[in-house]
Amino acid sequence: TLPPRTPSSQPPAPAPLPTHRGCPFDPPGELGALREEEPVSRLAFPDGKTGWLLTRHEDVRAVLADDRFSSDRLRASSPVRRFPLLRSESPDLAGSLIGMDPPQHTRYRHLLTRHFTVRRMRELAPRIEQIVADHLDAMERGGPPTDLVADFARPIPSLVICELLGVPYEDRATFQRCTATLLRLDADEQTVRAARDELWAYMLGLVAAKRDHPDDTLLGTLIRDGDPDAPLGDAELAGLGRLLLVAGHETTANMLALGTYALLCHPEQLRALREDPELVDRAVEELLRYLTIVQFGTVRVAREDVEVGGRLIRAGETVVASLASANRDPEHFPDPDELDLARPPAQHVAFGHGIHQCLGQQLARVEMKIAYPALLRRFPALDLAVPPGRVPMRDDMFIYGVHRLPVTW
Ligand code: HEM
Repeated sequence: TLPPRTPSSQPPAPAPLPTHRGCPFDPPGELGALREEEPVSRLAFPDGKTGWLLTRHEDVRAVLADDRFSSDRLRASSPVRRFPLLRSESPDLAGSLIGMDPPQHTRYRHLLTRHFTVRRMRELAPRIEQIVADHLDAMERGGPPTDLVADFARPIPSLVICELLGVPYEDRATFQRCTATLLRLDADEQTVRAARDELWAYMLGLVAAKRDHPDDTLLGTLIRDGDPDAPLGDAELAGLGRLLLVAGHETTANMLALGTYALLCHPEQLRALREDPELVDRAVEELLRYLTIVQFGTVRVAREDVEVGGRLIRAGETVVASLASANRDPEHFPDPDELDLARPPAQHVAFGHGIHQCLGQQLARVEMKIAYPALLRRFPALDLAVPPGRVPMRDDMFIYGVHRLPVTW
C-alpha cells in the first residue's frame, strides 16, 4: 500500500502520455508503473499545457461521475498530437452530445435513450443474425485466406448502424473514408478539414432528404416525433446522426477484429468459448476490459479546484482518464493482465462511466454476442494467415484495433 499523500506534496515533473505498447494486447507498460507509484500524475500535453493523468480504476470512476468536471472538448487539451476528433474547432458541434454538459447533454441523451434500450437492441437480434450469416456465407464462398476486417468486422456494424439510423449503406465509401481520416492521429490539418466538411455536407444532405421523405428509421423518427415546442434543427439532427454513425461502426468493428485476434492468440481461452457457448456473455465483457479500444482514454476539464487521490487539480486543467489502465488495475481485477473469459463481472470502464457512459453499449454487446460465436461455429479451424507479430496494429488511430486481420480456415 502507498503512503498517504497530501495535496501539498510536490508531484514529479509532467511527462507526455505513454503510448508505446510492448505487447499488442497490453496498454503501454509505463501506465502500470504510474498506477502503482503516481496514480494521479502530471501530464504534459502536445499543446504545451500541463494537466493530469488518472490511472487507477477508483479515481477514473470517481472523476467520470463527478459533475465538477466538464466534457467540453473545446476547452480541453489533447493527450496526443493531432487529435482530429477532439480538436474539431468546427461550428458544427450541434448535437454532438459527447462533448456537452447538462442541461444540453441531458436533452439530447433523453431523446436518444429510448432508441437504445436493452429491449430495442434485443429486437434487432434476428436482423443482426441474418447480416452476420450473410457475411459468413460470402467469406465461405470466397474461400481462405481473407481479411477479417474488410469481410466481417467492418461491414457488420456498419450495416447495422446504417439500417438503424436510416443511412443508405451504398454511401459507405464516403462515410467510412471520412471516419477513418477523422480517427487518424497523423492526418494533416487540411486533410482533416476536408474529411470533416465532406461528412458534414453528407449528413446535412441526408437530413434534408429525410425531411422530404420521413421514414421509421432513427433519424426519421427524431424528425417526426421531436419535441413540438423545440423541434430539432438541421444541424442538430446532422450532428446527432454523425456521432452515432462514427461511434456506431468503428468501435464495434475494432472490437470484433481485435477480439478475434486476441482469441486466436489465446488458444485455451478460445477452446473454452467453443466448448461452452454460454460463456459468451462473460467473454464479451472480458474482451472489452482486456482490450479497451478507446486507447487514450477520455478527457474532462475541471470547472473548479478538485482534490483527486491526494492531488489538487486546478480549475481549467485537463484530466485524462485512462480507461485502459483502469481496466488493468490489480486493486479491482485479480490478475488483470490475464485474458480470462470466465472472469466474474466487475464493472470495467471500457464504455466509460457516468452520464456519458456509452449510449450504444447494448447494441455493441448484441453485435458481439452474435458475431463471435457465429464466426467460431462456421470456421472450426479459424486461424491467422500470417505470423502473430505481422498483424498491423492501429497504434496510429484514436480507436485501437487491427488495420487488417488475415485469416484462414
Ligand atoms: C460514448 C466506448 C460502441 C455511441 C462512449 C464512451 C466510451 C465508448 C468509452 C464514453 C466517452 C466519454 O466519456 O467521453 C465504446 C466502445 C464501443 C462503443 C468500446 C464498442 C465496443 C458504440 C456504438 C454506438 C456508440 C455501437 C452507437 C450506436 C456512443 C455515443 C456516446 C458514446 C453516442 C456519447 C454518449 C454521451 O455523451 O452521453 N462510447 N462505444 N458507441 N458512445 Fe460508445
